[in-house]
Amino acid sequence: MLTLSDVTAGYGGGNVLQGVDLHCEAGTVTCIVGPNGAGKSTVLRVISGLLRCRTGTVEMAGTRTDNLPPEQVLALGVTQVPQSQALFPGMTVRENVLLGGYLIRRNRKLLASRYDAIRERIPIVAERAGDPAGNLSGGQRRMVEIARCLMLDPKLLLLDEPSLGLDPRSLAGVAALIQSLNQAGTTMLLVEQNVRLGLGLATHGVVMEGGKVRLTGTAAEVRDHPEMASLYLGGSAPTPAN
Ligand SMILES: Nc1ncnc2c1ncn2[C@@H]1O[C@H](COP(=O)(O)OP(=O)(O)OP(=O)(O)O)[C@@H](O)[C@H]1O
Ligand SMILES: [Mg+2]
Repeated sequence: MLTLSDVTAGYGGGNVLQGVDLHCEAGTVTCIVGPNGAGKSTVLRVISGLLRCRTGTVEMAGTRTDNLPPEQVLALGVTQVPQSQALFPGMTVRENVLLGGYLIRRNRKLLASRYDAIRERIPIVAERAGDPAGNLSGGQRRMVEIARCLMLDPKLLLLDEPSLGLDPRSLAGVAALIQSLNQAGTTMLLVEQNVRLGLGLATHGVVMEGGKVRLTGTAAEVRDHPEMASLYLGGSAPTPAN
């Protein structure tokens, strides 16, 4: 479904990503974890076309996407929920969600049926449809951001820290949503600071550090890997009492 090969990318001088290889099979949920500044969000930006890679390739279902503009990557079915707030605060929740369907705006029937399905799935969309998005709490906005990304029925959904700022109930809602989307066939790549949650939801895990992939495997392999603690959690792995 998605393959990154030897990708380097950065923002000014120097590369943030230093030869990243990543592969996501169709139907899987891959979770990237790693310390702040590791380059996790940068990987998602390269995939969605918001940042060009300098060398290397990105392939989505057999199509090279690393030289496509973001709109064309979106049209291939790749949508991203960004890490930082991305709603238009002065527009209503409904308007914000509908904006996600910009590419299908001429097909009003499809637009309406997608919106209805999302409203059923994500209660806040129904409850606060007419309120300006700026009036919502951080966690409520997060749900609306995810809702907006669903308007295009993505093939690959990129989620940058879906749990950010969510209370336990909303968190459970997002977790359930991710699982049901995956069961419906959506491939997902998420970045998550909450390692337990992220790897719990995922089928596969990736640990990044310093712009490189340090560890990959099934979610369970990554979670239980002896190097996880020293790579990511800081300090050395707890030694078993004996
Ligand atoms: N727009 C930007 N301009 C310049 N440098 C940037 C920009 N965005 C990120 N960087 C730099 O790139 C590096 C990787 O950032 P990135 O956002 O990918 O990290 P991350 O793994 O997502 O971290 P976090 O867990 O804090 O979200 C950091 O050193 C950061 O300072
Ligand atoms: Mg980030």
